[in-house]
Amino acid sequence: MSQNSLPSPPAALQTWELRKVYRTGFWLNQSVESLKSCTLTVHQGETFGLLGPNGAGKTTLLKIILGLVRRTAGRATVLGKPLGDRAVRQQIGYLPENPSFYDYLTAWEFLDWVAGLFRLPRAVRQQRLPQLLDLVGLTQKTAKQRKLRDYSKGMLQRVGMAQALIADPDLVFLDEPMSGLDPTGRYRMREIIRQLQADGKTIFFNSHILADVEEICDRIAILAAGELLCVGAIDELLGTSNSYRVRVRGGDREAWQPWLQPLTADGDLWHGQLSGDPQAFLSTVDKAGGQLLSLDRMRLSLEDFFLQTLRDRQIDTTR
Ligand SMILES: Nc1ncnc2c1ncn2[C@@H]1O[C@H](COP(=O)(O)OP(=O)(O)O)[C@@H](O)[C@H]1O
Ligand SMILES: [Mg+2]
Repeated sequence: MSQNSLPSPPAALQTWELRKVYRTGFWLNQSVESLKSCTLTVHQGETFGLLGPNGAGKTTLLKIILGLVRRTAGRATVLGKPLGDRAVRQQIGYLPENPSFYDYLTAWEFLDWVAGLFRLPRAVRQQRLPQLLDLVGLTQKTAKQRKLRDYSKGMLQRVGMAQALIADPDLVFLDEPMSGLDPTGRYRMREIIRQLQADGKTIFFNSHILADVEEICDRIAILAAGELLCVGAIDELLGTSNSYRVRVRGGDREAWQPWLQPLTADGDLWHGQLSGDPQAFLSTVDKAGGQLLSLDRMRLSLEDFFLQTLRDRQIDTTR
């Protein structure tokens, strides 16, 4: 950190070597190590995406942090307090992976009931519910008239989001918020998340939909088979490629062929991908009498990066 930069704000979430072993089988004599040793930090105000294939341990990690599953080992703090702190529970919101609601209630009745659990005074509830419905894009009319069993998956997910936000939390945990939604539903969820970002909330979400993560998150971690493979800012992780997209004018095929693959020509314009040393390539350009028009570092897509990371660790990606 440079001397002039501001001190970083306190972490929203910190974990140290969190581990979970589930006991299974009729006699509880078998064990599944769902989380091996998870150490990570989520800063306040950032949107953090935890990526990983199915069964990686993402939901397990979230449930430990939320106090829904007991950890086998390790330590964690949420908003600076150890796990299980009651005051902190009031400041965090949670959208579960497959929210199931009391489907004979209307959205309004359900949200009013959740507000009651958080002990929000009646006057606050009367203000908060319309605000929330507005944020998640449901009309008061629908919310008051239609029972949850008649809602689409996308609408239910938005009701789930509203209940997660009922107490205006600083930190929101979303478990696979986009999964099972159609493109419109996904778009709506992304817009809600953007609004939360604009309101300065810290967002932690689990996902295996990489395009959404790439678009929304500041930092990510990749979890596979219970193990954290990497943590970092998306720009840093994806910007580490050693390939460049190059365009040159002049010269001939013989000059460029050894450097640029695949090489394509368009009149006296050549373009291709450079994987060698850019300095050495520049001296070739001089020698060949060419003119360099552009040389841009190529960025991996998050999907390529994700698959490559799993392959490097020899984790089966075909499941
Ligand atoms: N309650 C449980 N009892 C036993 N095993 C479990 C339980 N919950 C999850 N697991 C196992 O832990 C592993 C991680 O599961 P999970 O955290 O749900 O992964 P993800 O959310 O990344 O798909 C899986 O192998 C799963 O079968
Ligand atoms: Mg899960």
